[in-house]
Amino acid sequence: MTRRPYVTAAAHYLRGRPPYSAQLLDVVRAEIGLDGTGTLIDVGCGPGVLAVQLAPLFETVIGIDPEPAMLAEASRHAAAHDVKAAWIEARAEDLATLELPAARLVTFGQSLHWTDRDRVLPAVYELLQPGGAVALIAPAIEHGSPPVDRPAPPIPHEQIEAVIGAYLGWSRGPQEDTYETSLERSPFGESHVAYAPGRADIVRTTDEVVSGYLSMSFAAPDRLGDRLDEFVVDLQALLAEVSPAGRFHDWPGDTVIIWATKRG
Ligand SMILES: C[S@@+](CC[C@H](N)C(=O)[O-])C[C@H]1O[C@@H](n2cnc3c(N)ncnc32)[C@H](O)[C@@H]1O
Repeated sequence: MTRRPYVTAAAHYLRGRPPYSAQLLDVVRAEIGLDGTGTLIDVGCGPGVLAVQLAPLFETVIGIDPEPAMLAEASRHAAAHDVKAAWIEARAEDLATLELPAARLVTFGQSLHWTDRDRVLPAVYELLQPGGAVALIAPAIEHGSPPVDRPAPPIPHEQIEAVIGAYLGWSRGPQEDTYETSLERSPFGESHVAYAPGRADIVRTTDEVVSGYLSMSFAAPDRLGDRLDEFVVDLQALLAEVSPAGRFHDWPGDTVIIWATKRG
């Protein structure tokens, strides 16, 4: 049976995940040369974070995700930000069958690795208007520096991941295929890398830190099953030790944009 971690992770996503760089829109506009026209198609849009943040750069916004619970979050998130968008329930592998308009930009926010990249990237290439671009966007924790004077103790990621390991036998594996290498062997070929500065001022409550982890596919509530409550209590106890005030500094790193264009 195919696992669907984002059914149960969806409700935690907007609450717990750190937002992308506040300058993402400016960096994307300058790097890719956008002018407020054309169509954005955000694939694996989840709760619509990228689609909503980049919407001012386009006339039309379309978000695509196979998970209805995510699309429901996206629709609420867009309405709260006065963004008009169409939300389509589909997998990236089905892009060619969706009769979509030619796109100025196709984005994947932390979602390309969920897809069959070697099938999906050629379909994205076809979907773009000449001179259009694909952008693969993610937090880059290793890029940029956290502020020297942190407003609260940092989220104890290593200790939390040890707890997840104890419950689920999970550990962080090596990255096997980078986005750059996927683009390199696709019709796009050469790619470019840009960074938008990370947000230095995100302070989380204990519940938000817990939600951040429950929004991850590897620690989603469906994986924890009937041990979910016990897991949350253990995490809360760990977090209370690290920060009795229940406040944590969340440093997501800069936001990386790996992008490539369709030759015009
Ligand atoms: C880590 S979330 C990213 C959400 C959002 N794009 C962001 O930037 O925060 C990954 C998303 O990819 C979606 N996804 C999983 N498999 C997919 C596929 N084959 N095609 C398109 N999206 C997929 C999931 O449902 C989930 O919403």
